[in-house]
Amino acid sequence: MLEVERVSRSFGGVAALTDVSLEVGAGEVVGLIGPNGSGKSTLLNVITGISPAERGVVRFDGRDVTSLRPDRTAALGLTRTFQTPRVLHRMTVLENLSAALFAGSPKVRRLRKADRERLNGLLEECGLGRRVDELASKLTLPEQRRLELVRTLVSDPKLILLDEPAGGMTPAETEGMARLIAEVAARGRTCIVIEHKIDMISSLCERICVLDFGRVIADGTTREVLEDEAVLDAYLGRRDIA
Ligand SMILES: Nc1ncnc2c1ncn2[C@@H]1O[C@H](COP(=O)(O)OP(=O)(O)OP(=O)(O)O)[C@@H](O)[C@H]1O
Ligand SMILES: [Mg+2]
Repeated sequence: MLEVERVSRSFGGVAALTDVSLEVGAGEVVGLIGPNGSGKSTLLNVITGISPAERGVVRFDGRDVTSLRPDRTAALGLTRTFQTPRVLHRMTVLENLSAALFAGSPKVRRLRKADRERLNGLLEECGLGRRVDELASKLTLPEQRRLELVRTLVSDPKLILLDEPAGGMTPAETEGMARLIAEVAARGRTCIVIEHKIDMISSLCERICVLDFGRVIADGTTREVLEDEAVLDAYLGRRDIA
C-alpha cells in the first residue's frame, strides 16, 4: 500500500531523514518510534506532501505521490493527524467534520441529512457523541485528539498516519485512545502510529520501525525490535520515553 524508497530530507544543512525506506502493507498497523528529533514527524510530512522529499520516492497504492501536495494525497486516501492537534477552534465539533467533508469544494454547502447522520455516527463511535455541538476550543486535549482522528475518517481513508495520538495524555486516556485506534484498524484501515509510549505501541502494533538521527535503525516484529541491541542503546538507553 505504501512504499517509501530511499527518501532524504534536510533543513538548512541538518539531515532530518537520510535514505529512509519503509513498506507498509494493507491492513498493517505499524509503530514508528525513535528519540526526539529523529525524523518521525518529518517522515509523515514527506509522505503526505507537506514537506516533500528532496531525494527518493513515495508510492501509495502503486502510484508515485512524491511531489503531490497534501490535498492531493488526501484525495487518494492518505490522511493524518498532527502532533499538536489542528482543530478549527471557533467551529463546533460537527462543523469541524463538515469542513473536512467539504474540503476542496469551492462553495459552502449544507449538510444533507444522510451526511449529518453519518458524521454523528462517527462521533458516537469515537466517544464524542455528547460533544457534537460544543465549540472545538472547549474540548479537552484527549477530545481534540479524538476529533482529529474522527476527522481523518470522514474521507474514508485507506491509510491513516497518527503523530503521537496519545501525547500529553494520562495512562487511562492513553488506553482509551489505544482502544479507539484498535477499533479503527479492526475495520480494515492501515495505520502508521508514532508514539513515545512503548506500551501503547506494543499493544497496537505487530511491527515497529525505528528511526535514529534520520535513519532507519530497525524494522521488524515488535518483539524483535524491542529486543534489538541498537534500539535499546539508541532509544531506550537514552530514556526519552515518556
Ligand atoms: N520545518 C523545519 N525546519 C527546520 N528544521 C526542522 C523542521 N522540521 C523538522 N526539523 C528538524 O528535523 C529533525 C527531525 O525533526 P522531527 O520533528 O521530524 O523529529 P521527531 O522524531 O518527530 O521528534 P519528536 O519526537 O520530538 O516529535 C530535527 O532536528 C528538527 O529540528
Ligand atoms: Mg514529532
